[in-house]
Amino acid sequence: MAKLENYQDRVVIVTGASSGIGRELARQLAARGATVALVARRTDRLDEEVSAIRSAGGKASAHPCDVSDRTAVNRVCQAVLKLYGRIDVLVNNAGYGRHVLFKDHEVEDIERMMQTNYMGVVYWMKAVLQPMRDRGEGFILNFSSFAGVVSQPDESAYCATKFAIAGLSESVSYELRPLNIQVSTAYPVLVKTELFTNEVMARMPKESLNGFMDVGDFVKQTLHEFEKGQINILIPKRYAWVQKLKALFPTMMGNKISAVKLEGLPDVTS
Ligand SMILES: NC(=O)c1ccc[n+]([C@@H]2O[C@H](COP(=O)([O-])OP(=O)(O)OC[C@H]3O[C@@H](n4cnc5c(N)ncnc54)[C@H](OP(=O)(O)O)[C@@H]3O)[C@@H](O)[C@H]2O)c1
Repeated sequence: MAKLENYQDRVVIVTGASSGIGRELARQLAARGATVALVARRTDRLDEEVSAIRSAGGKASAHPCDVSDRTAVNRVCQAVLKLYGRIDVLVNNAGYGRHVLFKDHEVEDIERMMQTNYMGVVYWMKAVLQPMRDRGEGFILNFSSFAGVVSQPDESAYCATKFAIAGLSESVSYELRPLNIQVSTAYPVLVKTELFTNEVMARMPKESLNGFMDVGDFVKQTLHEFEKGQINILIPKRYAWVQKLKALFPTMMGNKISAVKLEGLPDVTS
């Protein structure tokens, strides 16, 4: 399978590029020579970022789009193709989470989260598939989460969307490998971004609060693994032992996770 060795003349779509990991991905990819199409809903943020990338000598364009809207995704994908004539790389990074007990989580938001986090990935992969097949090459990076490997309390709907992405992404990677299309899955653990509001931090276990990674380092390491052709990218790598422990000793891990005291969390029995 071809490797992503250089980005000159390559067109990359990054969803969720208006903040956090997606914005940093757009910056680092543009700095490596890629032409980057930035996708998210907040137009002002996208325009700001495109200006910053262009001022630094990079190539970028803004494409406002709600990834939960299939028609919008198809329209934006066609617009990118028309603008640049090709799509080499798709990074499905857009998503959101909610720290809330399952009993308190409104069904409407659970539906919206699945529609955004999971169906957004489905729509974008479907949209770029034919152009990538036509070129005989392509690279896709889908963002799951460590919460898509080991379930966490207080995030049930989010975990479900991230497990769904992991299953989809792994399965599609087997289908597309013979077509020279690499499908990798990223499993970030704790990266300091706007996802972690004060409200969210107040509900997290104290021991997690010191474990945050800088977004620049995270993106650098993730791109390094993606470019090497890694299919499963778990960063920081030290968390791989938790994944192995869960596979080998699921009951023990379950007992450990159940015993974690969540600060600010109401009594689950109430
Ligand atoms: N940070 C972490 O520790 C961590 C850990 C595990 C997984 N992740 C995953 O990494 C990805 C990026 O997260 P982040 O930490 O960078 O969070 P973030 O700073 O909140 O960024 C989320 C991005 O997703 C976009 N987005 C949300 N809903 C969207 C929609 N309906 N349509 C289009 N774009 C949408 C947002 O843009 P607009 O609001 O402008 O649309 C924003 O650009 C997410 O999938 C997240 O689940 C992060």
